[in-house]
Amino acid sequence: MKNPLTGSNSRHVAFLGGAGREGSALALRFAAANWTVSIGSRDRSRAEEKAAEIGRLAGVTGVSGTGNVEAAAQGGLVFLCVPFDNAAELLETCRDIWQPGTVVVDTTVPLQFEKQRGAVLLRLEENSGSESLAHLVPAGVSLVAGFKTIPAHVLGELQESLDCDVIICGDDAEARTIVMEAASSIAGLRPLDGGPLRHARALEAMCAMVIGLNRRYKAKGARFRVVGI
Ligand SMILES: NC(=O)c1ccc[n+]([C@@H]2O[C@H](COP(=O)([O-])OP(=O)(O)OC[C@H]3O[C@@H](n4cnc5c(N)ncnc54)[C@H](OP(=O)(O)O)[C@@H]3O)[C@@H](O)[C@H]2O)c1
Repeated sequence: MKNPLTGSNSRHVAFLGGAGREGSALALRFAAANWTVSIGSRDRSRAEEKAAEIGRLAGVTGVSGTGNVEAAAQGGLVFLCVPFDNAAELLETCRDIWQPGTVVVDTTVPLQFEKQRGAVLLRLEENSGSESLAHLVPAGVSLVAGFKTIPAHVLGELQESLDCDVIICGDDAEARTIVMEAASSIAGLRPLDGGPLRHARALEAMCAMVIGLNRRYKAKGARFRVVGI
């Protein structure tokens, strides 16, 4: 696989659903690490407003807003940051526009929020949400799972040290390496190779766990650090 982060896409990253909580918080971290950032939204003006806010917070100029499909078509590294229930439809919409070599980072988690039980991981036909979405990108485009376990709240507070791991799973080892290299540019984040995409189910369960930990301990920033590596 050709590294997509070369030429015009060197240190460029796009976020589908980038005006939302997780997308905008991740975009802020990448902008602060001097990446050129595209914020995607169904509503271009919302994307432009969020891009201006992120640029101001990060103290940089390279953040712009656009439509989701336009952001996806830019290629390189593209983060999928919409609710899981809407992710398949968005990927279907993007099916014909991907540039070969694009790496899609799936941050989505198939969760349902219940009043009594809190965050409940949905049972799917596929083992994980990411595996069900991976069928929806064409050959030549890789989907990896990552960043599912870091709460938007922590990512969005630039002064807060992340001090945690991000585990990346995917069936394409080169795509995992590309995403891990990108993740390593964010201060306080240690990328770990989580192996094949089937392990995404563990990441999705860890996200449900984080939400429960935050709730029980009245915290906002629970996250994971693997010891022994
Ligand atoms: N929040 C977290 O701490 C966290 C942590 C780990 C993973 N995640 C995952 O990240 C994803 C986004 O979470 P979030 O908390 O950022 O959610 P969110 O703020 O509710 O939604 C993110 C964005 O998704 C877009 N969206 C909403 N409905 C849509 C639809 N029908 N079709 C297409 N786009 C739609 C919206 O963007 P526009 O209206 O601008 O188009 C919205 O701003 C989820 O899959 C979640 O599981 C979240």
